[in-house]
Amino acid sequence: MELGLLCSQVTRICKETGEFILKEKNKVNKEHIELKSLNSLVSYVDKNAEEQLVSGLSALLPEAGFIAEEGTSDKKGERYHWVIDPLDGTTNFLHGIPVFSISIGLMEGDETVLGVVYELGRKEMFYAWKDGGAYLNGKPIKTSNQTELKDCLFATGFPYYDFGRMQNFLQLLMALFEQSRGVRRLGSAATDLAYVACGRFDGFFEYGLSPWDVAGGVVLVKEAGGKVSDFKGGNDYIFGKEIAVASQGIFDTYLEIIKDYMKY
Ligand code: IPD
Ligand code: CA
Ligand code: CA
Repeated sequence: MELGLLCSQVTRICKETGEFILKEKNKVNKEHIELKSLNSLVSYVDKNAEEQLVSGLSALLPEAGFIAEEGTSDKKGERYHWVIDPLDGTTNFLHGIPVFSISIGLMEGDETVLGVVYELGRKEMFYAWKDGGAYLNGKPIKTSNQTELKDCLFATGFPYYDFGRMQNFLQLLMALFEQSRGVRRLGSAATDLAYVACGRFDGFFEYGLSPWDVAGGVVLVKEAGGKVSDFKGGNDYIFGKEIAVASQGIFDTYLEIIKDYMKY
């Protein structure tokens, strides 16, 4: 399969669905908010967007299955699965905060081989495929070249439903506040990963995530030269609900701090 060609077709589908989401932004209001579970919001926009993506991607690769947040398809594939978050940053979207993305990853078996994150607030199309490099709006991107924590800007997601590890998480934040340039919380994990890939952030970590939050973004980070792991330093970061990514030059130091505070 020619992944580069497939990637450009996926970006085309994302642009179309992105137009739909941006159009609906002016119509959607608080009455459209549905609660899926504690602090997990959704509206008709997420669901319709996912239906459009599933239909477009099905035409591109008929044999692929789907792992999609809103459950509009649960088709199983043999070799390939699309992992889709039609709107990452729904709370931002519904509160009028302009940071939200479409995130699409393609898995071949256990491996993520293609990723697209389309950040709609700034119309930035991030995309990458295995051994093909990572790009932002047509230009190659790289992770940062920082080597010291004191020069680094990190991103995270705050716990909002799983509060079991919150004390450890807060201690970890305090350590990073003291040792780095700061920590941001944008409200879209896919965007956080894309920002690490292009060097705006030097690292990102979060627990309590789902496969569709990260599958697209990890391909971007890896292809841009960064490192990705779970909090233990292992590879269970797509389905394992926790992820740590950073530029090469600081990854080892940064992972040791995460392991220390998150008790691994
Ligand atoms: C959420 C965002 C957020 C992260 C949450 C995700 P959603 O995705 O990525 O930044 O902190 O864990 O669930 O619900 O907006 O698709
Ligand atoms: Ca998400
Ligand atoms: Ca979502």
